[in-house]
Amino acid sequence: MQQTQLLTVRDLGVRLGGLHLVEGVDLDLARGRTHGLVGESGSGKSVTAMAIMRLFDPRLFQVRARRIAFDGRELTDLDNRQMRRIRGAEISMIFQEPMTALNPVLTVGEQIIETLLVHQRLGRAAARRKALEMLEWVRIPAAARRLDEYPHLLSGGMRQRVMIAIAIACRPKLLIADEPTTALDVTIQAQILDLLHELQTEMGMGILLITHDLGVVAGYADEVSVMYAGRIVETGGTAQIYRTPRHPYTEGLIRSHPPVDRDVDELATIPGGVPQPHLRPPGCRFGPRCAHHRAACDLADPPLIGHGGGQRAACIRHADYGAPPAPEAAHG
Ligand SMILES: Nc1ncnc2c1ncn2[C@@H]1O[C@H](COP(=O)(O)OP(=O)(O)OP(=O)(O)O)[C@@H](O)[C@H]1O
Ligand SMILES: [Mg+2]
Repeated sequence: MQQTQLLTVRDLGVRLGGLHLVEGVDLDLARGRTHGLVGESGSGKSVTAMAIMRLFDPRLFQVRARRIAFDGRELTDLDNRQMRRIRGAEISMIFQEPMTALNPVLTVGEQIIETLLVHQRLGRAAARRKALEMLEWVRIPAAARRLDEYPHLLSGGMRQRVMIAIAIACRPKLLIADEPTTALDVTIQAQILDLLHELQTEMGMGILLITHDLGVVAGYADEVSVMYAGRIVETGGTAQIYRTPRHPYTEGLIRSHPPVDRDVDELATIPGGVPQPHLRPPGCRFGPRCAHHRAACDLADPPLIGHGGGQRAACIRHADYGAPPAPEAAHG
């Protein structure tokens, strides 16, 4: 089947004053597929998502991109009014903590209805019927009763289902799910991820799945991009990256978040943490935490180098892997 491109991001950067929060970010997502964006806390995942959604106040943040092409349109060409029309309807986002994202003084039903009324020409009664349908879609038991309840009566998992119902109410083509399950316990996590996957199959939406857990990505994403200190350091097909990670940071993440079906005795964590933007080291940003660090690593921040099959990694050890690095694919 011919895959068509849904989202193409090229050279996205976000600056706050003189600090680069993220830079040089490229992302590709095909229609109906899932791209995982992984990295530890502070690596720049949410900043990337918010920049794509244009949620930053331009008086404070400078967001620049060579391209943000979505469904055949160039988002960087759109004015704020056009962007508002896309947000919530064609691209929606779900956030990590559903309690802060839901309005505590509105019932579950009112919040879904509000989204529907903003983006679709529906009467109130029709919107209410549709809201009920959405709650059933996200498999909330006793949906008719839940419609008139307030969010605080719901469990964390149920709240996240409501967030998903709001996000998919207008049948978006792209769903950005920013750590949709981190606040939930493991069984509920799996249920929510399975639900997203089912809805994706039914609706054909593309998902940008943001998580710090490479194990989650292994189960649900077709492609993965690994972020570290504001840059993408490795990207490619999920299976290939799991088999042959080419960046020591990716290796470390795999060891600390193995796929669910792999038995490990002990989880290995990477010592240290992601440096803040003003404390990034010269050369490779991962250098100070890297077990393979050598003097040459401090000279320049390595570019992404192709390893074949669409895999690219930003590490000078590429020469150690035998085959000469494939030339960079031309990026349009
Ligand atoms: N509003 C902001 N003002 C100033 N700095 C910010 C802001 N938002 C993010 N940052 C900085 O940008 C960098 C990337 O942050 P970001 O929130 O994107 O990380 P993340 O990968 O989403 O982490 P987490 O897993 O904790 O959600 C961090 O150094 C963070 O301190
Ligand atoms: Mg985040």
